[in-house]
Amino acid sequence: MNSKNVLVLPGDGIGQEVVAPAIAVMDVAAKQEGCEITVTQGLVGGVAIDACGDPLPAETLELAKAADAVLLGGVGGPKWDNLPMASRPEKGLLGLRQGLGLFANLRPALLSAPLASASSLKPELVAGLDILIIRELTGGIYFGEPRGIETRDNERVGFNTMVYSEHEIERIARSGFELASKRNKRLCSVDKANVLEVSQLWREVVNSIASDYPDVELSHMYVDNAAMQLVREPKQFDVIVTTNMFGDILSDVAAMLTGSLGMLPSASLSASGTGLYEPVHGTAPDIAGKDLANPLATILSVGMMFRYSLDLPAAADSIDRAVAEVLAEGYRTADIAGPNDDVVGCRTMGELVIERL
Ligand code: IPM
Ligand code: MG
Repeated sequence: MNSKNVLVLPGDGIGQEVVAPAIAVMDVAAKQEGCEITVTQGLVGGVAIDACGDPLPAETLELAKAADAVLLGGVGGPKWDNLPMASRPEKGLLGLRQGLGLFANLRPALLSAPLASASSLKPELVAGLDILIIRELTGGIYFGEPRGIETRDNERVGFNTMVYSEHEIERIARSGFELASKRNKRLCSVDKANVLEVSQLWREVVNSIASDYPDVELSHMYVDNAAMQLVREPKQFDVIVTTNMFGDILSDVAAMLTGSLGMLPSASLSASGTGLYEPVHGTAPDIAGKDLANPLATILSVGMMFRYSLDLPAAADSIDRAVAEVLAEGYRTADIAGPNDDVVGCRTMGELVIERL
């Protein structure tokens, strides 16, 4: 039997609950394809701060580098909200992204047909919605230097730097073109080139490699317009490629279009293929520990892991199919339930998916 090592980092809040069914699904789906997965668990985020005073212990980063893939629940919560920026749980996640070189963040926004009424937009605007947002994840204003808060002329000023070098733009743009060429062959690059020099360079570099992908139709859009178009006519998009901060914002908009943040998986990929997989939703401290969370985003993230890191596309397909079946049969966790739906808890939802694998 083929074997793989997966590092699981449950993190905080509902992270703990949603990874449990996802591990069970991973195990069954892998075995069906003749693969044995060895799971190691590690600490990141608030639980790591509590255990050893560091949101990303060195041991966790070492384990992550050695693993074939990493599955993460979520980080953060009110308990750690008053810590200084450098020691907050979020630093653990940002450190993992940087430490593993995870420059390409794939955030699909897919509307599952039985959930169309959960969207905040009219059903006809979102029926069949299938967008992929590719967010640059290790550069831009999130990591740019100089940054800080200092006193100038007797008052404090805060500053950050949005910076991209040509090679950073080129590699994320290539991810965009390549993924678009496997989908509907339309790539929209989102920037703010009417105001920012960094965006002018972004646009130039994206244009300069377009001729390598003649089958992909490239367009450009300013980020403010892209935000508007996403809520006006979202189905005009196929693949969007953009910077770290614009992607952070637009992916939340896109997530809301599907009406169910609890359903959306994500993948963060590096040049070497080592990937980190996590649900797009947060740690939902208000419902943590109550068996109310929706595990489907994490389960679907395991599907992405099979596709992009573990080279088991058939296992990915069977997870996607099993989730679709459970939804078609009317099972819902509370976050996606309508008035007449069968509401199940986190654990039961996981068991239902496994029964259909
Ligand atoms: C996300 C989150 C993170 C980000 C936070 C938790 C640091 O909002 O993954 O979208 O801003 O990247
Ligand atoms: Mg975000």
